[in-house]
Amino acid sequence: MSQKKNSILILDFGSQYTQLIARRVRELGIYSIVKPYNTDSGEIKKINPKGIILSGGPNSVNFKKTLRAPKAIYKLGTPILGICYGMQLLAKEFGGRVIESPKKEFGHSIFKIKRKSELFSGINASSSNVWMSHSDKVQKLPKDFITVGQSTNSQIAAFQNNILNIYGIQFHPEVTHTSIGKKILKNFINICNCKKSWTPKNICSDMIKNIKDNVGNDNVILALSGGVDSSVVAAILNKAIGKNLVCIFIDTGLLRKNEALEVLQITKSLNINLKLIDASRKFLLALRGVSDPEKKRKIIGKCFIDTFNQEAKKIKNAKYLAQGTIYPDVIESSSKNSKSDVIKSHHNVGGLPKKMKLKLVEPIRDLFKDEVRKVGKQLGLPVTLLKRHPFPGPGLAVRILGEINHAKIKILQDVDEIFLQELHSNNLYDSTDQALSVLIPSKSVGVMGDKRQYGFVIAIRAVNTTDFMTATVTPINHKILNSISTRIINEVNGVARVVYDITSKPPGTIEWE
Ligand code: XMP
Repeated sequence: MSQKKNSILILDFGSQYTQLIARRVRELGIYSIVKPYNTDSGEIKKINPKGIILSGGPNSVNFKKTLRAPKAIYKLGTPILGICYGMQLLAKEFGGRVIESPKKEFGHSIFKIKRKSELFSGINASSSNVWMSHSDKVQKLPKDFITVGQSTNSQIAAFQNNILNIYGIQFHPEVTHTSIGKKILKNFINICNCKKSWTPKNICSDMIKNIKDNVGNDNVILALSGGVDSSVVAAILNKAIGKNLVCIFIDTGLLRKNEALEVLQITKSLNINLKLIDASRKFLLALRGVSDPEKKRKIIGKCFIDTFNQEAKKIKNAKYLAQGTIYPDVIESSSKNSKSDVIKSHHNVGGLPKKMKLKLVEPIRDLFKDEVRKVGKQLGLPVTLLKRHPFPGPGLAVRILGEINHAKIKILQDVDEIFLQELHSNNLYDSTDQALSVLIPSKSVGVMGDKRQYGFVIAIRAVNTTDFMTATVTPINHKILNSISTRIINEVNGVARVVYDITSKPPGTIEWE
């Protein structure tokens, strides 16, 4: 991508905020790339960044084995900004002293600019709220460095070296609690002489060119799920190679109500080449009599791969398999500090067949989720699709506890539809990150029309989360919960009771299984 010539490189020392730094830089219109802290200097030279940011991290530079960036970066003449650990590392590398602070700073702190600096250009406030998270602090500056700011507990909370174009800040500019954070990152970008070019329009045109150059006239297969990522991949490939893209959408029978129809309509309106395979009978038959959740997942995974394989074989000259890998997946699997592939271990429906011997094409592997949505909008995908909550690959199978049958699927689809409609009509859909309904197979009694009736228990669940690894319950007010429950009981036969799940994650998971 041409915009990649105008990039900021972020070396990751393990901070929980590293991805946030990259996103903030991109929000300012500059391409940023995250690499592990010890990335080979040859690779860094190849990236040829306009500026380098050293992230924070949980370690101390005084540990026996200090985590270091390759020394070569200090000789490139590229502006460098160290954040938290990154600042302390710069101090240490250039001969300063870092000590364990008797007074730690976690959370809010007050920062005062002590000297004029390009990093603070346009900031007029004499003191600002900043977000800190450190136990060590810089006690003595290296030669040729000057202090440009101090905070409540750090005399040296910001420094710079004008000759080497090196800057350090103890606080985190990437978090929104730091009121001057965005301005500081913008100033650093200016110092690096970066030009704003990372826009959805440019991203799209670069992606299209890239796909055309690489894929040429070969056919590409894509397993379209109806979710945001695979839909954006379909739309971009469609723009680049048109009918040489064949999307396969497998209706497992475990989808949301009308989902297959919606996918069909959207792909039709965008002129995307789609093969819709109704495999619902096959899935249901294979699942008959099975109630163990892991067994259900395995069966669904296998059925999916078999069906996909069968269809893919029919496509002539297929050389590529497209996938909706996105940037956080790439960072997590490449970062040596990665703690978390918790979600992905059970994510994809069995994964796609490796033995198909197709080359991979991953058009959105450089994009964060919010960028995927922006690109999707640029490509004309409906906003309702782009704002969709995630939906698990095995679909309603993980939301029907125990054995699955057609009647239970129908009940849950109807319930789910009502729940989502109510969230939309109460303006709650966008403020919750995932909403779902669960069918609990035990029967409970209810009195309807003066008659006792036994029906299933339905649990509804809505959570707020940023990474789906932890989640809190969305506080929906009782009046709304009440009307959701009334509608479900009145409109869906076979349901006797509705409960709202108030378990956060952890200890609960988002799905019930
Ligand atoms: P849990 O239940 O582990 O879910 O808290 C975390 C997130 O992952 C989704 N999830 C899945 N997504 N295939 C998927 O594509 C799956 O098998 C799967 N299982 C859970 C879940 O909906 C939530 O967003």
